[in-house]
Amino acid sequence: MTKKIKVGLIFGGNSSEYEVSIVSGHNIYKAIDKDKFEVHPIWITNDGYFADEEESFKVLEDHNYKVKNPHKVNNISNLIELADLPEIDIFFPIVHGNLGEDGGLQGLFKILDKPFVGDDILSAAVTMDKEFTKILAQRVGVPVADWISIKRFEFDDKGNDKLDYNKVSETLGEDLFVKPSNQGSSVGVSHVTNAEEYKKALDEAFKYDDKVLVEKTVPGTEVETAVLGNDEPIVAGVGEITNAKGSFYTYENKYDNSSTSKLQIPANLPDKIVQTVRSNALKVYQVTECSGLARIDSMLTPDGKVVLTEVNALPGFTNISMYPKLFEEAGIPYTELITRLIEAGQDRYNHKKHLLHKHD
Ligand SMILES: Nc1ncnc2c1ncn2[C@@H]1O[C@H](COP(=O)(O)OP(=O)(O)O)[C@@H](O)[C@H]1O
Ligand SMILES: [Mg+2]
Repeated sequence: MTKKIKVGLIFGGNSSEYEVSIVSGHNIYKAIDKDKFEVHPIWITNDGYFADEEESFKVLEDHNYKVKNPHKVNNISNLIELADLPEIDIFFPIVHGNLGEDGGLQGLFKILDKPFVGDDILSAAVTMDKEFTKILAQRVGVPVADWISIKRFEFDDKGNDKLDYNKVSETLGEDLFVKPSNQGSSVGVSHVTNAEEYKKALDEAFKYDDKVLVEKTVPGTEVETAVLGNDEPIVAGVGEITNAKGSFYTYENKYDNSSTSKLQIPANLPDKIVQTVRSNALKVYQVTECSGLARIDSMLTPDGKVVLTEVNALPGFTNISMYPKLFEEAGIPYTELITRLIEAGQDRYNHKKHLLHKHD
């Protein structure tokens, strides 16, 4: 029998998407092919502590479990205190938002010289920042909503024109979205149509980031597609999110039982639109140099225009999550999808190893 591959499944983290990540970790743990892989869970608590393996298993079973023996990693010797872990063959970070989607954990894996699942440092950092993503998308001709960005120092200057709703709406229109540039799960995102709402929205968004985007509202529904692979990625079909009138895809609509959002997979849309969503997604995946996986989200306007919203480097893997559902629909069941993601991580690492040897 061949030796099982030891997978370090990292979940949790100090972002607003902590709880989603625990559920994603739980689902991956349940579904992973246990004949091929031996899973070692690594829980990062919401306060940023590392838990040992025993406690990490506990929180996978009971999401409300509280850590008893937290390890704050302040320096390398602290990390070594977590020595109950065997040598991991590949890391699988399913940490959404900070640390996992912004290149932070990827930097740690690079230092450890270990393969890992999902996007590399550059693509994770670039796609975490919605402004960089938009700039790159424009370069390959993929439409994005018109926007301005406001930095913290501009926000602190109360006379700055960007804080004046009337001036901003002269260029972007009166119907706007305000959002932190680096966030997820709709946290800190507001829809505004007047000066009072605009001011509140900026205060809210700046709680989460030092850079805030103000975008023209794109009317319509959200359409999403999923991409898998490295140099020759495959693109799944398209899913659509329809919301009850008056509400956008908020945190509650994403995860609450009371959600008014519906996921339709596959979306019931004309073939031409489906192909545009998919080809835009591939262009954006490639220009942001993604590898492994990404979910690519756009708005579809009533007149059939597809406008990119954002790229998610480590999308949700919960039961209701779009990414795994889209691939299931495309003929790749959840368990096989996990295997393929791990293989893509190993392939990328082996390729880089090969490059390094050229310098010997
Ligand atoms: N320019 C826009 N026009 C219309 N709706 C938008 C726009 N930007 C964001 N939204 C809505 O807000 C939600 C969250 O915004 P998004 O940019 O996807 O941030 P997050 O990373 O928090 O998911 C989207 O799912 C969409 O429903
Ligand atoms: Mg989104």
